[in-house]
Amino acid sequence: MSTFQDYFKDIYRDRWASLEQALHAPAERMDRSVFEGHAQYRMDTASIRAAKALRVQEGDEVLDLCAAPGGKTLILLEALDGTGNLTANELSFARRKRLEEVIRTHVPSTLQGNIKISGYDGNQFGLKKKEYYDRILLDAPCSSERHLLELDPEMKEWKLSRTTQLAKRQYSLLCSAILALKSGGVVVYSTCSISPLENDGVMERVLERKSDLVRLDEDVSDLSDLERTKFGFQIFPDCASGAGPMYIARLVKF
Ligand SMILES: C[S@@+](CC[C@H](N)C(=O)[O-])C[C@H]1O[C@@H](n2cnc3c(N)ncnc32)[C@H](O)[C@@H]1O
Repeated sequence: MSTFQDYFKDIYRDRWASLEQALHAPAERMDRSVFEGHAQYRMDTASIRAAKALRVQEGDEVLDLCAAPGGKTLILLEALDGTGNLTANELSFARRKRLEEVIRTHVPSTLQGNIKISGYDGNQFGLKKKEYYDRILLDAPCSSERHLLELDPEMKEWKLSRTTQLAKRQYSLLCSAILALKSGGVVVYSTCSISPLENDGVMERVLERKSDLVRLDEDVSDLSDLERTKFGFQIFPDCASGAGPMYIARLVKF
């Protein structure tokens, strides 16, 4: 049976020692007041990059499919600049309460009307909101190894089946997001995992099975300073001043 160490050593080889050390270090976060005069929100700079990668335009109909606690929601709302609509969706009741609190304390009352919070299973959007959104962020539930290492430094409970299960859930959520996108719409799929079964593994499956619906965005000039993977980009904490990990991939609907 593969251990956490064996599994990632095999993938990252010479890099694993420095990457593992960086994953154990406290995450690099900055306090940012997204909206002037409102409370600051503590955010990893890699999260800001993932939200900005959606390239929200004024007037867009935007969906943040897995939104809590809401850091990326704030960045998406900032980009709308008082126009369009943003739906911030979160399945977990407890986490949705946190999301509501973040919106209440960080967003000016003049912008509260542009945001709606919902609590659906993200898999429903592809069925119930077909071809409705211009932009969708899928910041997916993922292995989140850095967070797990904080809780259990030796990762005694790690199992390969965890990342394979999460990859399946992410694939399903990404398919739902694709169906909910308008033609010409954009979806960003992001995770804070370092597992290639998630990330590129999910993208590979989507590009194989949904190639009639989506393609990789060809214009990735805004992401070109990041490390490229087969289908996306990655921010690793052993460089980029400790930010991340964050995987970011962008698809455009035909
Ligand atoms: C990586 S976190 C999102 C972090 C958030 N985007 C942010 O920047 O603060 C993933 C979230 O997805 C939620 N989630 C898991 N499965 C879901 C589903 N099927 N539909 C909607 N949300 C889901 C989890 O409860 C969790 O809050």
